[in-house]
Amino acid sequence: MIPWLDGIIPHLKVLHIAALALWCGGLFALPLMLARHDPAIGQADYARIRQATHYGYTLLVTPSAVIAIASGTLLIFLRDVFVAWMFAKLVVVALLVAFHGWVGHTLVTVAETEGAHQTPAPLGPTLILLAPVLAILLLVLAKPELGEIPVPGWLREPRGAQLPFDVPRR
Ligand code: HEM
Repeated sequence: MIPWLDGIIPHLKVLHIAALALWCGGLFALPLMLARHDPAIGQADYARIRQATHYGYTLLVTPSAVIAIASGTLLIFLRDVFVAWMFAKLVVVALLVAFHGWVGHTLVTVAETEGAHQTPAPLGPTLILLAPVLAILLLVLAKPELGEIPVPGWLREPRGAQLPFDVPRR
């Protein structure tokens, strides 16, 4: 490991944790804000909550998600964590990304397309989001010994077959 690269690990972790706090916090807040998209609150308040939700999603929550994922990806290589709990964490992070996409889609549908739209009640999304966030925290903080990822035996053995094309040899 290049020594100065070792030195950036704590800084990268701070960036990772700050970004994911904003990302996850935003994912909890946005469904609550979406639930306030009710014309009954009056036009001025409606415009304010619509704008806050739009800018919150595009300027804060989405960039935080990108920073959390980019810094986490760098950390995998710097910390050399090619282990089962990390791969399990990545599978659960995919659920978080799917939730992020659902929030964006709902935001566009409810706040930015014409017609009457029913806003989703916030309790369901909050409970659904809690599951992957707690699972990720459990995996990353407990770092459980999950053993080997089960793969079929034939994937581990050379098949003795030739490639259908020539590859350069040294
Ligand atoms: C694609 C997304 C992500 C990647 C690639 C990633 C990767 C990593 C890596 C490699 C580490 C360093 C682990 C170590 O030093 O042993 C780390 C630390 C951490 N990650 Fe992530 N992460 C991601 C998303 C998240 C999310 C969404 C959360 C929380 C909801 C999270 C929570 C944490 C925490 C709390 C730590 C500090 C753990 C420690 O140092 O013991 N990460 N992450």
